[in-house]
Amino acid sequence: MTTPRAIRTVHTVAELRQQVGAWRAGGERVALVPTMGALHVGHVALMEAAKAHAERTVVTIFVNPTQFAPTEDLGRYPRTLEADLDKADGAGVALAFVPDVNEMYPEGFATTISLAGPALGLETDFRPTHFAGVATVVAKLLNQAAPDVALFGEKDYQQLQVVTRMARDLDLPARILGVPTVREADGLALSSRNVYLSAEDRAAAPALHRALTTAAAAIAGGADIAESIEAARRAVAAAGFALDYLEARHAATLAPVASRADGPIRLLVAARIGTTRLIDNLAVPD
Ligand code: PAF
Repeated sequence: MTTPRAIRTVHTVAELRQQVGAWRAGGERVALVPTMGALHVGHVALMEAAKAHAERTVVTIFVNPTQFAPTEDLGRYPRTLEADLDKADGAGVALAFVPDVNEMYPEGFATTISLAGPALGLETDFRPTHFAGVATVVAKLLNQAAPDVALFGEKDYQQLQVVTRMARDLDLPARILGVPTVREADGLALSSRNVYLSAEDRAAAPALHRALTTAAAAIAGGADIAESIEAARRAVAAAGFALDYLEARHAATLAPVASRADGPIRLLVAARIGTTRLIDNLAVPD
């Protein structure tokens, strides 16, 4: 016999607001974990981290069509709602908000957030409309749930910086928190898209993290940034990836950096193997 889940699932903004309002009226703080479902251990880490900041956690599960280009994997993006609810329930999440597309984008929807700063370059060079879709849906979710904090994985590092900047610029009251990337034992960052990897591509995939680790250690040890980045690009290509970018950027603004004096450095990579596009990133230690 299976135990019934304690998590409540709602599908409308009105139900979400009613529940969050009731918690707030009782003096409870609320954390938001926005997701597109296909939950894995990395998402569970966000839900576990949320407990340190709020009495109640809300997970949102919505495969947001506006952040996918027509050529991308919206149609085949994994949808695993029942398993997702089990995982969120197991992590102590109180409420799942699972809207449909019409609830989020009703007839006549015509507003998109326009971005610059950390949204420029990197992913945007390859997915020009992606962050406008992310920022718009995240702004909606923050307004709908009105949480005290919202947690995002550092795995999508540029997304985290874009959302942080947006929340500051638009005076959104929620505190935006980044949670460290969860990795497989061989270093591969957990991602819902890892299920697309063939056995051969899966075996090659940890090369991304290895290349970043080697470059970060070299730069931290005083090696030339441009040379270290070039060596990392060669290592990723040698492992069978087609590289979109591998760059050293300022950790908050994501502006290009030429030397360590330019500020804290983050290395970011996106590369394709087989039919799968993977991203990863790593801090250069101070
Ligand atoms: O990181 C994701 O899963 C998505 O980009 C997000 C933040 C849930 C917005 O759809």
